[in-house]
Amino acid sequence: MPKQVVPPFPHPSGARPPAIDAKFVPAHVAIVMDGNGRWAKQRGLPRTAGHAKGEESLMDVLAGAIEIGVKHVSAYAFSTENWRRSPDEVRWLMQFNREVIHRRRDELDAMGVKIIWSGRNPRMWRTVAKELVDAERQSADNTVLTLQFCMNYGGRAELVDAAKRIAQAAKEGRLNPDKLTEEKLRHFLYAPQIPDVDLFIRSSGEQRTSNFMLWQAAYAELVFLDRLWPDFDRRDLWRAIEQYAQRDRRYGGALPNQTS
Ligand code: IPE
Ligand code: IPE
Ligand code: MG
Repeated sequence: MPKQVVPPFPHPSGARPPAIDAKFVPAHVAIVMDGNGRWAKQRGLPRTAGHAKGEESLMDVLAGAIEIGVKHVSAYAFSTENWRRSPDEVRWLMQFNREVIHRRRDELDAMGVKIIWSGRNPRMWRTVAKELVDAERQSADNTVLTLQFCMNYGGRAELVDAAKRIAQAAKEGRLNPDKLTEEKLRHFLYAPQIPDVDLFIRSSGEQRTSNFMLWQAAYAELVFLDRLWPDFDRRDLWRAIEQYAQRDRRYGGALPNQTS
């Protein structure tokens, strides 16, 4: 018997999602959760206080994503470039993300969230990888929302990893290089079962992608919001979705009923 799914917890203000036709709700939202350090600095706190506050933002955004009908969320938690930060901050972030997954796993599982870890194995802390793999296992049958948790993730690293596996397959005669297509390449990415990114959101006012979802976001609509991640909640997600719903997605084509 399928398990009983717990509905997402409401926003404390009682806010409800805007009425948007389901066909204008993005299936896959990618989020660069940025601005933790600046949030902390504004308050005279250590950078880590901003990261800590961001946990609540993510939980609220996931609840809001479920409420409005988003099916996949990719959250950028630690990039392949974030190793450049101080050893103290890196250590803190590794431990923190492990604890977040551990602490939130049951709650997310109850809401029907399927957790997937995307990122590189080498260098990743074994204990964090184990926590993520356990969470993947526990939540594997969930269908309400997929959370692609990107830890030690880089878009270029993902493409290099794909290229290595493709080259290996070609060497072993399992793949004909002449027959490689975009669709086939996609299957070598970390999570090929997740569709392309429809809406790419970055908090904190920075306007760059910082190596997130390079392949998958080729035709994503980009929305940059000034709010710092620790202040971000589901209402910001909904605002971004309202902007998304107004966009014309042309994919290189032309609008119908327009002559040249
Ligand atoms: C995003 O916040 C979190 C991670 C990159 C892990 P930052 O730590 O980048 O915060 P800012 O950009 O310095 O404000
Ligand atoms: C991107 O943010 C990475 C994550 C949010 C995990 P950064 O703060 O690391 O990106 P840059 O350095 O501003 O490009
Ligand atoms: Mg940043």
